[in-house]
Amino acid sequence: MTVGAARQLLSVEDVGIRFGGVVALDGVTFDIREREILGLIGPNGAGKTTLFNCLSRLYQPTNGDIRIGGRSILKCPAHAIVHEGIARTFQNVALFQKLSVLDNVKIGGHSRGPRSVTADVFALPSCGRRERELTAQARDVIEFLGLTEVEKKTVSDLPFGTQKRVELARALISRPKLLLLDEPAGGLNHEEVYALGDVIKHIRDRMGVTILLVEHHMGLVMSIADRVVALNFGRKLAEGAPSEIQTHPDVIRAYLGGDKK
Ligand SMILES: Nc1ncnc2c1ncn2[C@@H]1O[C@H](COP(=O)(O)OP(=O)(O)OP(=O)(O)O)[C@@H](O)[C@H]1O
Ligand SMILES: [Mg+2]
Repeated sequence: MTVGAARQLLSVEDVGIRFGGVVALDGVTFDIREREILGLIGPNGAGKTTLFNCLSRLYQPTNGDIRIGGRSILKCPAHAIVHEGIARTFQNVALFQKLSVLDNVKIGGHSRGPRSVTADVFALPSCGRRERELTAQARDVIEFLGLTEVEKKTVSDLPFGTQKRVELARALISRPKLLLLDEPAGGLNHEEVYALGDVIKHIRDRMGVTILLVEHHMGLVMSIADRVVALNFGRKLAEGAPSEIQTHPDVIRAYLGGDKK
């Protein structure tokens, strides 16, 4: 689908990061437009996760800038990134396995104000009200993702594909502008991958959330992304529509292992 003249939401400008002698990212520049699904691909070690970690503020770039709505997020600590409108899921499911689906989703809402420690500690009326609001918000997202039937179930009793959906619900309760997905198809079977693709599109289409999708599963990326950025050896190799990237000679060479730039 085309994005037309959509405004840019996030810009990655000349981002570089090194770990000792390893240059993990080098001069990476691209934009993510509002309501876009942007795929980020590249062979192993290309720097995808490193870039993802810079965006979610776990890593501090050595140079360059990352802006959301024109404002740099480089001074924002990782725990406060939700206030900038960014939410993420993890490569390995990071849910509380012994808690219910509903409780896991509500935990995602706790990182978002307004709340006060005093109100929590003394169980003031505002605290009970906040709890009820949170439960209602969680139920909305749970319904949106088709999880209502399992909302009381313990997460460890659910199939992996459903757990991934719970993680999405937990990220969405903060009503992010930008959702960062780190290899969401990992560990899923064929049907689950295609169901996930539909869920991701649904999130974009119905909630207006912009999505950055880091993924090795080319079928998924190429079927749902509006644009794709390809990295190799920490540099941007190509950027364009999925059909352009799939036939781009440098991308093909990088995946075949012949590119030693
Ligand atoms: N914390 C770190 N300390 C040292 N080196 C790191 C660190 N994080 C990443 N690197 C290095 O940065 C490079 C890019 O790694 P990254 O994990 O970002 O690749 P990737 O594209 O996500 O690969 P994969 O597809 O295998 O997940 C690699 O050479 C990696 O060893
Ligand atoms: Mg990675």
